Amino acid sequence: MRIVFCASDTKPGPWLEALGAALPGDTIELWQPGTPQADYAVVWSPPQQFLDEQPGLKGIFNIGAGVDALMKLRLPAETRLVRIDDGGMAVQMAEFVCHALVRHVRELDGYEQDRQQGKWSFRKPRLRQDYPVGIMGLGVLGQRVAQAVAHFEFPVQGWSRTPKQIPGVRCHSGQAGFTEFLAASRVLVCLLPLTPDTEGIMNRESLSRLQPGGYVINVARGGHLVDEDLIALLDSGHLAGAALDVFRTEPLPAAHPFWRHPKITVTPHTSARTQREESVAQIARKIHALERGEPVAGVVDRERGY
Ligand code: NAP
Ligand code: GLV
Repeated sequence: MRIVFCASDTKPGPWLEALGAALPGDTIELWQPGTPQADYAVVWSPPQQFLDEQPGLKGIFNIGAGVDALMKLRLPAETRLVRIDDGGMAVQMAEFVCHALVRHVRELDGYEQDRQQGKWSFRKPRLRQDYPVGIMGLGVLGQRVAQAVAHFEFPVQGWSRTPKQIPGVRCHSGQAGFTEFLAASRVLVCLLPLTPDTEGIMNRESLSRLQPGGYVINVARGGHLVDEDLIALLDSGHLAGAALDVFRTEPLPAAHPFWRHPKITVTPHTSARTQREESVAQIARKIHALERGEPVAGVVDRERGY
């Protein structure tokens, strides 16, 4: 079999080596214009030319969970799209979200400021019941995050497209459940895929429905958030703060107000990083399963866009 690799912003060498080790006997190639037709592709945000030159792929493996960049391209009609399904990202996302939540609720930034002034002073303890956490997206990552947050005994609820039953999580679904979900949340975590239905979902209207003193943790995609609406609600005092890991333009431009806003923390799209060895092992297992005609997890439904 021929496997072609084409990933922007990614050093190809270690991936080619890892794929070669996991798929011995197969031809592993770095794509360049004119590379012959391959059986499978391993990609991250490839150029349109790559897809146009590889119309006969049996499968395209995306080396991340989100496929929004791929869905903007003209894809070969018959090719299966497969995303990374956890691959070590769920536990990272759980630790990142719990860190942001605890940092906010326990006022750890305030204690750090006190430390810088050599000040020993206690803040009034906050009750976790006053910080119900709402998780938008109850897929592979959202469910793992919900479990982790519930472990720290915060009230947890989730929202998804289709109804779910998850122990310890109050589940809402569909448009009908969205208003109730927002009204019952003070901390909002976004773990939705970016699709036409979810673009701009965190806007003035939805964020105004959060409980007063709300806190936003966006670890999905920058396109979910309307930047100026967040800033307006932080400045009005309805929202207390935001931890943002993803942005409409990445890297976040130097002049963007998020960098300097006192109630916003910025991290460089690092909440859950693709783990190369684990992802390559997953891709190799899935290629073998597809070759045997077996189903695999993480196949993207093109109609839904995730
Ligand atoms: P997933 O397993 O596909 O889960 C997506 C969840 O979103 C599902 O529960 C789905 O509902 C729900 N959903 C989709 N459209 C919806 C809508 N219109 N209304 C309500 N719920 C909707 O995806 P995942 O693996 O958890 O990953 C989620 C996203 O995280 C990725 O798409 C990616 O953008 C982002 N991500 C970010 C990082 C980072 O480092 N910042 C790393 C990895 C992933 P159903 O269950 O009903 O289908
Ligand atoms: C990272 O953002 C991913 O989608 O895996």
